[in-house]
Amino acid sequence: MPLVNTKEMFKNAYEGGYAIGAFNVNNMEIVQGIVDACKELNSPVILQVSSSARKYARHNYLFGMVKAAVDETGLPIALHLDHGSSFELCKDCIDSGFTSVMIDGSHLDFEENVALTKKVVDYAHARNVTVEGELGQLAGIEDEVKVDADKASFTDPGQVQEFVSRTGVDSLAIAIGTSHGAFKFKPGQKPQLRFDILQEVMDRLPGFPIVLHGASSVLPEYVDIVNRYGGQMADAIGIPEDMLRKAASMAVCKINVDSDLRLAMTAGIRKNLAENPTGFDPRKYLGVGRDFITDVVKHKIQNVLGCANKA
Ligand code: G3H
Ligand code: 13P
Ligand code: ZN
Repeated sequence: MPLVNTKEMFKNAYEGGYAIGAFNVNNMEIVQGIVDACKELNSPVILQVSSSARKYARHNYLFGMVKAAVDETGLPIALHLDHGSSFELCKDCIDSGFTSVMIDGSHLDFEENVALTKKVVDYAHARNVTVEGELGQLAGIEDEVKVDADKASFTDPGQVQEFVSRTGVDSLAIAIGTSHGAFKFKPGQKPQLRFDILQEVMDRLPGFPIVLHGASSVLPEYVDIVNRYGGQMADAIGIPEDMLRKAASMAVCKINVDSDLRLAMTAGIRKNLAENPTGFDPRKYLGVGRDFITDVVKHKIQNVLGCANKA
């Protein structure tokens, strides 16, 4: 099976009341760690690349690894641009083999966001590539852009129908209280998501796939390992898994996870190096990081996403 776009995946996910994991990839161990889990659990998956990941790993290497994952697993895999910031970047990714792109005009005013998103949709749809748009702004750091909590804004459900019908997007990322990074809530703050907004969006866009960014749960066992071996992430806190499960049973068809993978990889490397002070073979510590990523992705598929055996 070749790389796929997200159309069929999201249709099945919406109807089945589950979500597809969209995992950020930056190197070979991360790609392999993710797809090993998906293969074992027979799960479709979205591998997503930010523009800084693309700069770091370089297109040909990332694309080659993702193609290898498709060939090796035979799973439905979409290659997605995460947080595309311009038409030119989206076009470049579409022209070089991505099957899905996000155009993130969430920082623009409504009319500018509509115009930019529509331009990307027109180009992408002519090439069978699906497009994710965004309305509302998450807090946190993404692609070198930091949005302070006081500048973040929830999605206005009153805008979603007009945005979707004027742009033609295939899915919509909304802001309901998730945020990027590993420190999503202040210590002592009770994690909360605006399910009332999600419900209203769902009512206004029946059957339409919604995307949750900033949706890592920052698994405590990996935070503990990082801290045990010299890290200082005691205040890291993510989205509770029961909230993610609820979102997946509603209109959320794509759940974005990057921080949980970073944490797993870092935990594995720290642990291996601390336990083997004379060790200096990258395959040993990166191998543990890769195994930890596989464990995390299996956990997500089984306990949060519900997409096992949906390939
Ligand atoms: O939402 C952003 C992702 O976590 C990607 O982060 O730009 O540092 O690769 P990055
Ligand atoms: P996390 O930082 O919660 O993993 O979110 C990642 C994300 O939204 C990528 O677009
Ligand atoms: Zn994001």
